[in-house]
Amino acid sequence: DKKALWSGRFAGSTADKMQKFSQSLDTDWSFFREDIAGSRAHGKMLLKVGLLTAEEQQKIDQALLEIETEIEQGDFKPDIALEDVHMNIEARLIEKLGPMGAKIHTARSRNDQVATDYRLFMKKRIREIMQQQDALLNALINRAEKDIDVFLPGFTHLQHAQPVSLGHFWMAYFWKFHRDFNRMAAAFDQADQCPLGAGALAGTTLPIDRHYSAKLLDFTNVTENSLDTVSDRDYLLEFLFASSTFMLHISRLCEDLILWNTQEFDFIELPDAYCTGSSMMPNKKNPDALELMRGKTSGVLASLNDLMINLKGLPLTYNRDMQEDKRPVFHTLDTLEEILGLLPDLLNGVTMKSASIKQHLQKGFLLATDIAEYLVSKGVPFRHTHHIVGQAVQYCLENNKEFADLSLDEWGKFSDSIGEDLLSVLSIEAAVDRRSSFGGTARSEVKRQIKKATSLLETI
Ligand code: ARG
Repeated sequence: DKKALWSGRFAGSTADKMQKFSQSLDTDWSFFREDIAGSRAHGKMLLKVGLLTAEEQQKIDQALLEIETEIEQGDFKPDIALEDVHMNIEARLIEKLGPMGAKIHTARSRNDQVATDYRLFMKKRIREIMQQQDALLNALINRAEKDIDVFLPGFTHLQHAQPVSLGHFWMAYFWKFHRDFNRMAAAFDQADQCPLGAGALAGTTLPIDRHYSAKLLDFTNVTENSLDTVSDRDYLLEFLFASSTFMLHISRLCEDLILWNTQEFDFIELPDAYCTGSSMMPNKKNPDALELMRGKTSGVLASLNDLMINLKGLPLTYNRDMQEDKRPVFHTLDTLEEILGLLPDLLNGVTMKSASIKQHLQKGFLLATDIAEYLVSKGVPFRHTHHIVGQAVQYCLENNKEFADLSLDEWGKFSDSIGEDLLSVLSIEAAVDRRSSFGGTARSEVKRQIKKATSLLETI
């Protein structure tokens, strides 16, 4: 039976149940590459400052590479008696090299080791997620370009409000996801600081070179305070927050599309590839992919909450509670990667039902604001124009008419300022394109956004 590397001061042995309870291999074994990279860098640093000889460093480095291959090939299975990835790999090194292997943990603690492994791991995974987010942003730009000439009702309070270009709608999500991308980049920068050499909590009496270790591991900075370093998980919180706003936006997009996919809206047809049927009702085609994304959002929001609650009562510095920092983050990484893997395809596959959308455009007096603004251009104060058009709406409702059904004579009853030129205002296309204020829905403005968005993505 393997003994824990810390067993020296213990007379009794750990209960079997405690070993199971205490191990973190079910999560941190996926850090094995980072743990080995961290140890190799640490070994090189120990050589540089004279704490390892060249021969020792070379042997240790070689053995660590061998251990990596053993793990990759499935020849080395970790043992829960050795608690975590760090002690399993170190014990194997000692098994291979004897006392020489026992030198690797010089001027190092698992507290700075786990922090180093986790930051290296997050840098890699956040980069991968950012690449996937970039693909989603590109998919949205493509849809916006393709759909710029599709007009549909825009909503406030889920009531017909004003007509918008569908390109403008897709670009709205572009900007939300672009902010999430930037938040993810900021989380990456937070992770990009090297903890190695903070020791258990207070640093070390040995003459280490933390900046050299950081350089070898491709960290941009070195953490400033050892107590802060081993107690800090802010970079994970920032990753979880960036993930939470991202999922929140995904969930809202899903909700929009789920509504549009109902018989009542009937704006879109979803691709069969991302829908499923009912076991009982032969008529059903359900938007399950969208519902699942909306549903999986809760788990990610909970993950942020989970880690915040874990940390809030912890005194400095490391406390074992912090081992629980992996589950919520891993859950979030998996969820984001899975969703990002299919959402661009799903969006590409959405078909717009233009005939049905056209019918909706006739309802809800979408051009009411346009007429009010037309009257403003004739010099009528806006508050008065609002009332005038409100009365016209009321007249239409009472007489079961739409604006398009009103003659110029009928319009004349509401205001002397209405002339023949009103007709040019009463078109959906004109209503969209006349909203050319900066950031408005006019196609010229959507094109400007697309251009800006494209150039932003080029600098990534
Ligand atoms: N498995 C531990 C974790 O994930 C590593 C650090 C353990 N440190 C300690 N002092 N027990 O947090």
